[in-house]
Amino acid sequence: MEWISKELSHIKNHRPYKRPERLQDYYKLDSNENMVLEKKFVKAISLKSLYDNDLREYPLEHFDLLFKKISKYANTNTKNVGIGSGSDQIMDLLLSTICKGKTAITINPTFSYFIDRCNMHKIPTNIVNLSDLDNSLDFEFFIEESKNNDIIYIASPNNPTSNQFKNEDITNLIEVSKDKLIIIDEAYVEFSGYSLSNMVNKYNNLIIMRTFSKAFGLAGARIGYIVANEEIIDIFNQYIQLPYPLSSFSMQLAIEAIENIEVIKKSIETIKQERSKIYNKLSQIKEIKIYDSDANFFFFQAFNHFNKIKERLTNEKILIKYFGNVGNYKGAIRATIGTEWMNDRLISLLEESK
Ligand SMILES: Cc1ncc(COP(=O)(O)O)c(C=O)c1O
Repeated sequence: MEWISKELSHIKNHRPYKRPERLQDYYKLDSNENMVLEKKFVKAISLKSLYDNDLREYPLEHFDLLFKKISKYANTNTKNVGIGSGSDQIMDLLLSTICKGKTAITINPTFSYFIDRCNMHKIPTNIVNLSDLDNSLDFEFFIEESKNNDIIYIASPNNPTSNQFKNEDITNLIEVSKDKLIIIDEAYVEFSGYSLSNMVNKYNNLIIMRTFSKAFGLAGARIGYIVANEEIIDIFNQYIQLPYPLSSFSMQLAIEAIENIEVIKKSIETIKQERSKIYNKLSQIKEIKIYDSDANFFFFQAFNHFNKIKERLTNEKILIKYFGNVGNYKGAIRATIGTEWMNDRLISLLEESK
């Protein structure tokens, strides 16, 4: 195929994207969705959104209200908000436009989509390993390494390791990296200790990326947003993003979700309580090493029990994410925190698999 670009044919041969499997009757704990939020709540706001919109028309009327709702929720101003079809789409757009011809640095392991899309857009990526002792990053080393790079990507909390780095370490990284574009991916921020969304007016090179796919339980609706300095947002909204990046249905869904924030918050609290319980139970299994989580999932090394756990859980129809050996981690596994029932089942199977 002569018409295909070199990078694309390389990616095609090298690492095809594999969508998570949809398996019948499985507990779905592989994609960090909010399985605690009741299906009937999401159905109710979806039906309202469906009835209230005339899908024959292009989406026009929801933009202002959605920007207002998001900016209030994210503690910023409407002029600091950009929206997209999931943070995946926003990230891809940024990498293919303002990041074109640049180089990036990030940590390992992290959200692999970022690295895949950098490959796709010919952005060489420098990678710094996290410590398997406590998921920590040597910030001094990272800053030194980043000297020749133009873009910094950090997920805060990080996927898959589940931890959020100390606020002062990230703030210092931003302070000393004024010559770079910094993308802080806050996909899981609702489960964590802090957000940096209020720093975008101080740093015009900072982009905070957020999503409705995780805490808000709307992964299927594909709604993401960024918070950034007005200058970046102007360029993003007026030139980079599509004229109609979200359907009117999805926009209203996001508005409804924010208007029902108490329901969302309740599910977040339940997930946090379950998180403590899971951590306490799994840290007693000496054959695995679990890490403290600031997200709605947990991450552990299973070492040479990896295959046994994978086989057992697959037989029991529990779907989680198996990384194996990655960076400094051996037999790494990530699992979404689900309902109490799902979690208890998962805990007891892990206890039995040692
Ligand atoms: C760190 C991180 N960022 C972004 C995303 C993608 O979010 P969205 O559904 O908004 O594209 C994910 C999804 O797993 C993620 O883990």
